[in-house]
Amino acid sequence: MMRHARVMGTGSYLPENIVTNDDLAKRIDTTDDWIFSRSGIRQRHIAARDEFTCDLAEQAARRALAAASRSPKDVDLVIVATTTPDQVFPSTACLLQDRLGIRGGPAFDVQAVCAGFIYALDITYRYIQTGASKCALVVGAETFSRILNWEDRSTCVLFGDGAGAMVLEASDQPGIISSHLHADGAYKELLCVPTGVSTAYDQILNREAFTTMQGKEVFRWAVSALGDAVVEALEANNLTEADIDWLVPHQANIRIIQAIARRVDMSMDKVVVTIERHGNTSAASVPLAFDEAVRDGRIQPGQKIIFEAFGGGFAWGSMLVQL
Ligand code: COA
Repeated sequence: MMRHARVMGTGSYLPENIVTNDDLAKRIDTTDDWIFSRSGIRQRHIAARDEFTCDLAEQAARRALAAASRSPKDVDLVIVATTTPDQVFPSTACLLQDRLGIRGGPAFDVQAVCAGFIYALDITYRYIQTGASKCALVVGAETFSRILNWEDRSTCVLFGDGAGAMVLEASDQPGIISSHLHADGAYKELLCVPTGVSTAYDQILNREAFTTMQGKEVFRWAVSALGDAVVEALEANNLTEADIDWLVPHQANIRIIQAIARRVDMSMDKVVVTIERHGNTSAASVPLAFDEAVRDGRIQPGQKIIFEAFGGGFAWGSMLVQL
């Protein structure tokens, strides 16, 4: 029997508090028109002060388990993709495991920033294929608002908070078909939080651990690397865009998404877009968009979907999945 990693259920969660572009324009020198025309974003959800990444992850995970008709005791692997863990340690995956009452199996976080969810999914794919896991819970969850400088208009307008989750199981029915990950640390400085636990303890205490970005270079790189990654997913499976039902891209910028759709000649009708309402939720963006389109009936069982994501590192990749 072929061991596939099959998607059994999805879930997502967004914090209640919505911050619109007009809200931001009251606090910094920007406009709704600038933000929308450059990025496609109108609003983002921002976690409450006492709401942390694991809280968002827990809600998304419970919804994914319910959708899969599985209980926490069925889960033998927990992976959380996040750049904004609740604590330095334990991992958010261990915190989540405890919240849900899952015990004994491995639980760990994956850090690949905006590509984190597809990195986590790649690991899950291989765990399931080798027989090391039968039922995995994979979550992308972020409180990215905590690592933004809210006075820097060139970055803070672009991001939001949220979580998305999937339950995957070993199955003879198809699921993840192929995975193509990449990274190139030579570009570490173009998109980063330049401080961390080991390098800059004082800055963290002073709350200077914020995201910095060379927007134009990141834009150019994302368009080219993501276009290549989507082509790679198609070519590796001898498919053309006509064989693909949906593209679920990382939601960083509508212009990046449109450029990739153009590159592979895919109609925007086949692209799931949430950026207008969510902003860039980093590791949560792909599973959030996927869950929305599964729940509203756009994505149907049996359909073929390409995921792609790009983020700090740089780290990026694509996956072909059949629901
Ligand atoms: N409101 C108003 N003006 C702003 C602004 C804001 N929020 N942010 C920047 N500006 C200004 C800049 O200061 C600049 O002014 P100047 O020309 O007087 O210096 C001007 O707008 C143009 O900025 P520019 O950087 O040329 O805009 P752009 O077309 O490159 O768009 C981004 C900026 C950030 C939207 C775009 O570069 C981008 O999306 N990059 C990729 C980011 C990304 O996806 N990151 C995450 C990857 S996971």
